[in-house]
Amino acid sequence: MSVHSFSHPLVAHKVSLLRDMKTNSKDFRDIVTELTMLLTYEATKDLELSKDFITGWEGKPVEVEKYLEKDPSIIPVFRAGIGMQEGFMKVFPTARISYIGYYRDHETLQPMKYYAKLADGISERTVYILDPMLATGGTTSAVCTLLKEAGCGKIKVLCVIAAPEGIERMEKEHPDVVIIPAVIDTKLDENGYIVPGLGDAGDRLFGTR
Ligand code: URA
Repeated sequence: MSVHSFSHPLVAHKVSLLRDMKTNSKDFRDIVTELTMLLTYEATKDLELSKDFITGWEGKPVEVEKYLEKDPSIIPVFRAGIGMQEGFMKVFPTARISYIGYYRDHETLQPMKYYAKLADGISERTVYILDPMLATGGTTSAVCTLLKEAGCGKIKVLCVIAAPEGIERMEKEHPDVVIIPAVIDTKLDENGYIVPGLGDAGDRLFGTR
């Protein structure tokens, strides 16, 4: 199963605040950051720990646990994914930040890549795609395809709201990719917006509407 669902009262409360059109851009950004911190906590639960030794307060070696795998990379999906970057980096400050930019071709409606700068050694890193709204799943699926071509084997998607249509597409095209949504909504409308949703996440985050 590629969807990692979890429920938590704080998560439910914060999503409700995001849905409220009375929530202004500043508060919206802050709440997305808080939610991303909670999603990051959940998404990294399987991080493997190894034994290590540090010098403790008595000057003697103390056995401790640390994650020793290569630092992960995040990929905030333009534009709204940028709003999730700060929350992830607060929890996991050594993560590398990769960017891949897509635009939607007006005629074919297909996502077209216009920019990519991936962290070095990306194939050895767990990659966390940040996209607040998993709607049709078209761009997220294209990002996963590009990452797999670059050799990535462990990919997770963190989103605030997922639509069943986006989940279905990801399960079909990338069944190995784990999706961690804060909530799953009812459906997409005829314009590709998630309902009940929260509107255009980019506009709400950046005050462009
Ligand atoms: N992107 C958004 O920002 N909102 C939606 O509802 C769907 C896609």
